[in-house]
Amino acid sequence: MVKLLFVCLGNICRSPSAEAVMKAIVVERGISHIEIDSAGTYGGHAGEPADARMMSHASKRGYDLTSRSRQVRDSDFSEFDYIVGMDDSNIRALKKLGKEYHHKIYKMTDFCSTSLAKEVPDPYYGGSQGFEKVLDILEDASLGLLDKILND
Ligand code: 4NP
Repeated sequence: MVKLLFVCLGNICRSPSAEAVMKAIVVERGISHIEIDSAGTYGGHAGEPADARMMSHASKRGYDLTSRSRQVRDSDFSEFDYIVGMDDSNIRALKKLGKEYHHKIYKMTDFCSTSLAKEVPDPYYGGSQGFEKVLDILEDASLGLLDKILND
C-alpha cells in the first residue's frame, strides 16, 4: 500500500476535500493500492464533520465529504509515504513537527498543471467563490499528484 495524507489547518475544508477528490479519481481508475486520509495542524475542530459550506460545494461536483477532523500526530510521519500540505503555513508547521521527514512533505499546488496558484487558499472566512476555487485547484493538483505517486 502507498499511504497519502492531506493536511490543512482545521481539517474541515481543504484537506477533507482533497481526500474526497483523490478518492474519487482513484476509484474511477480502479486503483486499489493507495490509502488516503487527511488531518489538520490545528486540533480545535477535532471530531467535527467537514464544514457545511465546503460539503455543499463539494457535493455539487459529486464529492461526498465523510471524514471527521483530527489533528496531525507524530506517528503520521512514519506511517504515511506522502504528506501533502495545502499552503505555506501548513508546510512550515509540518516541517517543524516532522523534522526527520522533510522528504515526505509536499505542497499540493506543486502538482498543478493548469492552475497557477501557489497555495490552496484558506476558504474559511471568505465567500462561496473561495470554496469553488479550492475545488478547482484540488481537481487539477490531484491528477499531477497521482501521476507522481504512480511513477515514483
Ligand atoms: P481548513 O479551513 O484549514 O481548510 O480546514 C479552516 C478551518 C478552520 C479554521 C481555519 C481554516 N479556523 O480558524 O478554525
